[in-house]
Parts: sequence; structure tokens; C-alpha cells
Amino acid sequence: MKAHKKEMVTAQAPGKLMLLGEHAVVYGRNCIVTAVDAPVRASVSPSDEFYFDARDLGFSQAVDVRESDFPKQVAFAAFAVKNFCERFSITAPVRIATESIVTAGRKVGLGSSASVTAATIVALSHFHSKNMSRQEMFELAFKTVLDVQKVGSGFDVAAAIYGGTLLYRRGEPAPLKCDKLGLVIGYTGIPASTVDIVRQVAESIRNQPDYYEGLFDEINRIVINGKKAIESENWQALGELMNQNQGILRKFRSPSESCGVSSEILESLIKAALDAGAYGAKLSGAGVGDCMISLAPEEKQESVADAITKAGGTVISCLANVPGARIMGEGN
Ligand code: PMV
Repeated sequence: MKAHKKEMVTAQAPGKLMLLGEHAVVYGRNCIVTAVDAPVRASVSPSDEFYFDARDLGFSQAVDVRESDFPKQVAFAAFAVKNFCERFSITAPVRIATESIVTAGRKVGLGSSASVTAATIVALSHFHSKNMSRQEMFELAFKTVLDVQKVGSGFDVAAAIYGGTLLYRRGEPAPLKCDKLGLVIGYTGIPASTVDIVRQVAESIRNQPDYYEGLFDEINRIVINGKKAIESENWQALGELMNQNQGILRKFRSPSESCGVSSEILESLIKAALDAGAYGAKLSGAGVGDCMISLAPEEKQESVADAITKAGGTVISCLANVPGARIMGEGN
């Protein structure tokens, strides 16, 4: 039989939103994350050099993947290629083209770094006919994200690879049954540096370890109750748990003394959503900027969205609980 030579393989991976449990998950607790329809695509095709094309970030260039210090626009994709090729002892070069579909390269906190890493690994594994399990792809993608940014729980990588809504503890994704999630998402307009905020929190923990251990345990309890609320579709209860979680995030000592890892803009979008009838609202992710999320009954979602806009936020319309990374197509 004639060997089939693949021309181009494209994979897509979703973005993510943290429903409950940010920061605590970095310290071994559980969180709940949902995959959102803000996908990143990666295409792999044969080439005579390792070439990276991230046009929405203004990057198109050959890169030596034996290095480990990559241009920042393609650091995740390049490290993914390096790790994949090392794992399978592959030397044949490829061209990788990446593109974020909804956010067009803008960083809004929907997890494009994890998504591009996951999409690149899934596309490479198909391109090179390696039969990797989801867990193997997750582990290689998580290693890649840590190689680049050094910190992180891998919750975003789990959402990108597995999709759906997950109860997640470092390295251990557990799918939750969840058909609908009435989320209204508000972008603050302020890009947040997850790595910087995680480092600042780590610094505060060094000064007050017991204080933070207590907060993380409380968050973990909220997450476990959140799992039950999702499984029983008790949205009112889930909203109340989001509010409780936000209350604890305000008690973090860093970086702002007055509202912890929250901020004035996050607080005003959260208040607007609650006043307009949301069950619950909180920041999602490291905090300070990026996005807030609110959970609202269907008939209130439009007024919640309007209220977020009036309070200065940008509503991002995208579905939650979407499928994980998958192959989009093969061909030229
Ligand atoms: O800022 P984001 O959306 O990437 O979320 C970070 C969530 C943290 O728990 C603070 C860090 C992590 O890797 O879990």
C-alpha cells in the first residue's frame, strides 16, 4: 500500500473561563473551568525549515526549535513543536500557522496561550500519525505551557484539550455533566498579566501562609458545592457560590489592599450584572483586569449584558461548555 503523505492538518482548540477556584487551584485545590467558543486554530504543513506564521500577531518567520528562547508571539507554538519533536525524535521540519478566531490575537483572558499550545500538539500528532490519548496530549501541552510561563495550574490546558466543563485539580481533569450555562461575559478592557499576578500572590503567601491556606480551603469548599450545583442544575445556588468566591478573592492582600485581586473596574461590572438580575458574578482568572463572568436566568441575560456595557465593559458573546481540541481538516 502506498504511504499516505499528509499535506496540511488543521486543529482547533477552545478557550476557557474559570467558573470557580482561581488561585486556589495553583495550590492544589479544585477549580471548575468551562471551555468557551473562542477557538485558536493551528495548521501544520510540510516545509524545508521550521517556519511560524502568526499573522494576527504580526509574526511570520523561520525559528530554530532547538533553542528554548523563542520570540514571544510564537513562544507557545514553538515550544509545543520542540517538545513534540523531542518526544517522538522527529527532525523533519514543518510550517505552523496559527490564528485566533474570535479575538483576532487580542489578549482578553480567554486562554489563547493554552489553546494555541493544545491546537498545535493535536495538529502535530495527527500530521505525524501519532496515536496520542487526550491525557498524553494534555500532559505534553501542560509541560509546554510551564516551559514558557513557569507558573500555572494547567486548568486552561485541560479546558483546551478536553473541552466541556471540568472539575480540575492540578493534572487531573474530571468532566462534569452540564448542558447549559447562562453566562454573560464582560471584558474590562484591561489586559491582565496572569504570571505577574500569580507571582504577587505567591509573594503575599510567603508572608502570611496560614491566612492564605484558610482562604484556599474556603474556596475549595465553594468549588465542591459548585460541582453539586452544576450537576443538579441549581443555577441560583451556583450564582450564590460565585458571589462567595468573589468575596474571598477580595480578601487577598495583593495587589490591591482594598479589593484583593479584584479591581475597581471588575467590581463595577460585577455590581452592574448583579443589579440587573444576575444570580451571581465574579472575576474569572487571575484578576485585576481581563474578564468578569455573570450567571443569569435566560430572560435577564440581555439586561445584564446592557448593564455591563453601560458600566464600561465590553460584552463578549461566546458559548460555554463547548467541545475540546479537534481536527478541522486535512488537505491543501
Ligand atoms: O488569568 P487567567 O485567565 O489565565 O487565569 C489564571 C488562573 C490562576 O488560577 C490564577 C492561575 C492558574 O494557572 O490556575
